[in-house]
Amino acid sequence: MKAFQYNGMPKIYFGENALAEAFSAELPKTGPRVMLAYGGGSLRKNGIYDEIKRLLEGAGKTVFPFGGIMPNPTYRKVQEGARFARENAIDFILAAGGGSVLDCAKMISAQAKMEGDIWEAEFTKHLLPTEFIPMAAVLTASGTGSEVNDDAVITNEDLKIKDDMVGALPAFAVLNPAYTLSVPMTQAVSGAFDSLSHCMEIYFGKPAETNLSDELNEAVMRNIICHIREMIRNPGDVSVRSELMWDSTVAETGILKLGKETDFQNHMIEHQLGALTDCSHGQGLAVIHPAVYRHLAGDNTEKFVRFAREVWHLAPDGRTDLEFALAGINALADFIREIGLPATLTELKAGMPAGNPDPADPGILRQVADTCIIRPGCARKLGRDEIYAILMECIGG
Ligand code: NZQ
Ligand code: ZN
Repeated sequence: MKAFQYNGMPKIYFGENALAEAFSAELPKTGPRVMLAYGGGSLRKNGIYDEIKRLLEGAGKTVFPFGGIMPNPTYRKVQEGARFARENAIDFILAAGGGSVLDCAKMISAQAKMEGDIWEAEFTKHLLPTEFIPMAAVLTASGTGSEVNDDAVITNEDLKIKDDMVGALPAFAVLNPAYTLSVPMTQAVSGAFDSLSHCMEIYFGKPAETNLSDELNEAVMRNIICHIREMIRNPGDVSVRSELMWDSTVAETGILKLGKETDFQNHMIEHQLGALTDCSHGQGLAVIHPAVYRHLAGDNTEKFVRFAREVWHLAPDGRTDLEFALAGINALADFIREIGLPATLTELKAGMPAGNPDPADPGILRQVADTCIIRPGCARKLGRDEIYAILMECIGG
């Protein structure tokens, strides 16, 4: 087992009354000027924005709304937010939304306290932020686990790079599963698949041998799979949303990563596909995972066999180990189709706005392969030409 230190996670308030409970315990510790960061307007429609504002004002805070944070948040939006925070002498940032709003707010919190350009600091000078405007999260769409980490995935539109930055760690996170009932089903399924992807990216990391982190991980993966199916059957069932919301948080608490070197190569490929086409994160991952794993099944066969047996409940039925490993990957691919996620880049394109760059364009795929970060990988490092070949296999018809 790899050596580790574990420091827990931000305080979580989970359940029906989580917002009121969190605010009564936490707001006395914050300053009076609160920036309420949110997305494109869903929270205005479903009443969550009004509920948050009312409770903040009831606690004596002055609310400074900062909306329009887009899915796949941009570096320009971070800069706009940091200016807004400085100009309004913000004491505390409350991010209300999915991973995109949380990530953008984490970087606003850091950039507002930093003199220079934070992209340059992190990627050129390799300096991480040390000062932040305190921030917290009200999660309204689950999947990324952003509520429990200081990771912020930001798209630099000028450089055409989508990358992980280090931002603020939320001081606390509010998880009320009922808030996610209004998330459109395609997004809810994409978010839950993102959580499953996080589990797989950890599970197929090193070491491959049986260990506690991976056995816990198998339980989380089974829970996600069963509750995605259940959510599609019963979209209004809050207990199902509760399971998925907690699954996504648990997958990012770090507990499943203890003692492991994680993979996240699928994520690195998807991030660049997202940078160049603005595709949905969870949907891009759904297309990429089976294709990457078919390339790696021969190098990490024992682990893929275990995945087939423990996660998909398959039996070997006289198959060789490699055939059985591939059967587990096929079960994953079948599940992706069953839950209505795109299985090819052509299908991914069909669900995107007409003006977006085409994720099935070989020129774009070459750029993705040439610019994505290469990770040590689950079994071996993939080369850029192999990543391009994998992406070409994903085009479909
Ligand atoms: O913008 P609004 O109008 O609010 O609509 C959002 C958005 O269109 C909508 N939504 C959110 N809550 C809603 C709702 N609609 C109705 N009712 C509600 N209660 O959902 C849409 C998608 O939101 P978004 O935040 O983009 O989705 P998600 O949570 O999947 O976040 C994706 C982003 O997180 C990054 C991804 O790369 C992507 O940029 N990730 C962040 C990670 C992290 N910080 O740890 C890890 C992940 O691997 C991931 O890379
Ligand atoms: Zn993800």
